Amino acid sequence: METQRFDVVVAGELNPDLILSGDVWPEFGQVEKLVDEATLHIGSSSAIFACGAAQLGLKVAFIGKVGRDLFGDFMRQSLAGYGIDTRGIIDDEKTPTGISVILSRGNDRAILTYPGTIPRLAYSEINTEILQQARLLHVGSYYIQDDLRPDLPRLFTEAHNWGLSISLDTNYDPTGKWDKVIGEILPKVDLFLPNTVECMGIAGVSSLEQALNQLETKVKYLAVKCGDAGAILCHNGKKYEVKPIQVEVVDTVGAGDSFDAGFIYGYLAGWEPGRMLKLANICGGLSTRQAGGTGAQPSLDEAMQYL
Ligand SMILES: Nc1ncnc2c1ncn2[C@@H]1O[C@H](COP(=O)(O)OP(=O)(O)OP(=O)(O)O)[C@@H](O)[C@H]1O
Ligand SMILES: [Mg+2]
Repeated sequence: METQRFDVVVAGELNPDLILSGDVWPEFGQVEKLVDEATLHIGSSSAIFACGAAQLGLKVAFIGKVGRDLFGDFMRQSLAGYGIDTRGIIDDEKTPTGISVILSRGNDRAILTYPGTIPRLAYSEINTEILQQARLLHVGSYYIQDDLRPDLPRLFTEAHNWGLSISLDTNYDPTGKWDKVIGEILPKVDLFLPNTVECMGIAGVSSLEQALNQLETKVKYLAVKCGDAGAILCHNGKKYEVKPIQVEVVDTVGAGDSFDAGFIYGYLAGWEPGRMLKLANICGGLSTRQAGGTGAQPSLDEAMQYL
């Protein structure tokens, strides 16, 4: 009998990204300008990760919160379109769904974000029945999930007791404080997936080498994303490194989340560490081929051709 219906359950934030491109420099004083393109995408680190995992064939459930509005419907329906179980996504009666408006020109961009429900998922609202049916709990955007953050230590402890592994991608800390992760959180995390800046910020040091030394003993797997320099994995006192794949980069939004999906696929499949890192690096690289976070995430077959 199958008791674990889901490979991965994500507890996270949900918002769309509206990407405008062309001459997007705004002009105040009632000026109306025309831009080349406007497209609505699945945004938010947690949702982009969930789609990447589903795209690789993992069974995914999402626990989150949206407003009662079109953006909330868009997110719920988009995830469902990937076969993701959305029963754990609840409505906030008062707060509208958050959104990011991304003004994109060439390789630079400006982002305006309305947080809305993004920080509003609370521990008490987590559907534990769904959680108990999964093999792994993933949390992204630690620093912007304000209502959930204080309760993550106990959520992680509970999930561990139910037999789940825990993966964490903190993403960036907008306050620059990089609080609480080392002492409170990392001892409860199995797979820690920061990028280089986040890794050094959390360790409180200015070199990556020092940060790796400090954090590698605290988690089973420390996989660090190094953008167009590839990625590094520390596991069991060994260090693995991988160079980026050759790809025509359109936009790197969500590369980190797609990397996480590949890494977790390999972990759940019981792969050896070097192979987990390679698949993650491929998934991150391939995701950059299109604008937005999810459009170019690979299927498992596609990713395996690069392995
Ligand atoms: N230009 C690139 N070419 C090839 N692979 C890339 C490139 N940029 C990123 N990648 C792959 O994607 C992974 C994740 O990218 P990155 O380091 O930008 O993550 P991140 O900063 O967490 O991104 P985000 O949080 O915006 O999704 C890298 O470790 C690498 O494997
Ligand atoms: Mg990231």
